[in-house]
Amino acid sequence: MTSHTGPDDVIATAAQAEEATGNGGDSFTTLPRESYFSAEWFEREQELISSRQWLYAGHESEIREAGGFVTREVGDESVIVMRDENGEIHALFNVCRHRGARICPESSGSAKRLVCPYHRWTYGLDGRLLGAPAMPDTFERTKYPLHRAHACSWNGLVFVNLSIDRPSSSGVSSSACSPTSTRST
Ligand code: FES
Repeated sequence: MTSHTGPDDVIATAAQAEEATGNGGDSFTTLPRESYFSAEWFEREQELISSRQWLYAGHESEIREAGGFVTREVGDESVIVMRDENGEIHALFNVCRHRGARICPESSGSAKRLVCPYHRWTYGLDGRLLGAPAMPDTFERTKYPLHRAHACSWNGLVFVNLSIDRPSSSGVSSSACSPTSTRST
């Protein structure tokens, strides 16, 4: 019977090695074979990396003008990284607040607005809901902006972080990169 080495076993061993030596890398030469194909490892990576860490999403030069955007797949999510009219960069979940359709199919481009192809809900460059056709007069658009991830820029490098909590900037830079937006509900 072969022994099973799960991601948490490796994490625990690394933590022990780090505590013992102050250097968690010395005791490893390679990852176990399961790490390359197992669903368990993939899920743990998603949990520990994709949904918590600052991840590089592109360079500011890719979205130099207002309306410039790139879309990035982060774990299971699609995120629109977009510059607004004030020059601020936003990381917006590419999921319509109406029925959950994917809003932006392109990997990059420029847009004046984000318009969902399904029922034409229309969002501003900062994710605010601007138009919702066929909704009743009592409908409060302000309650339905696109969900946001955290975004920051450091020396022209743009990072996103899908953490629900406000992440620290330490994973990106010691000081220069402060999160610029927070994930909304
Ligand atoms: S799903 Fe986007 S407008 Fe209906």
